[in-house]
Amino acid sequence: MTSGTAVKKISLRLMAVLLVIFIAIQFIRPDRNISGQVFQTDISKTYNIPADVYTLIKNACYDCHSNNTNYPWYSNIQPIGWFLANDIKNGKAEINFSEFGSLSKRRQISKLRGIETQIKNDAMPLPAYRLLHKEAQLTEEQKELLINWIRNTRDSLSLNR
Ligand code: HEC
Repeated sequence: MTSGTAVKKISLRLMAVLLVIFIAIQFIRPDRNISGQVFQTDISKTYNIPADVYTLIKNACYDCHSNNTNYPWYSNIQPIGWFLANDIKNGKAEINFSEFGSLSKRRQISKLRGIETQIKNDAMPLPAYRLLHKEAQLTEEQKELLINWIRNTRDSLSLNR
């Protein structure tokens, strides 16, 4: 046997092993973040939020910051689904728009400030997510719309604290 065929044999075996691992991990599926309901504490019920602003937040933020993720087909492929589940877990730990109304006013104000900073710095939505979701690529006008709403809401919260 020449060394060439030995290498071929090893790499075929390696590919077979990788394929088996890939198939095996498909069965380890993370829990889905789909509550199927709009909570009474949802930000849309907490504030008088204009439809266009709400649509922006829903399209750009809800997949990782609410109790209802709209899963893309490739989330069924592991490990992509695991990465997404991790983003959702960490995202919801920071902000959950489905439960925004359950925070104290002081916390709401501070969260709104954080949201403004993230949008201004183009830090949110996460860059990888933006690549795959056209509706999450906010234009300058859309960012301005969001930031204006956030500022007004923050101001009104500070006034009647
Ligand atoms: C793909 C998932 C994903 C999307 C979409 C997303 N986020 Fe996040 N967000 C995260 C994760 C994960 C964290 C936790 C911190 C980190 O890993 O950067 C986070 C953290 C945050 C924080 C706290 C950051 C800090 O360091 O204080 C804010 C504010 C935030 N997100 C706002 C938003 C807003 C507003 C949108 C929509 C315009 C959005 N996010 C969309 C995943 C996401």
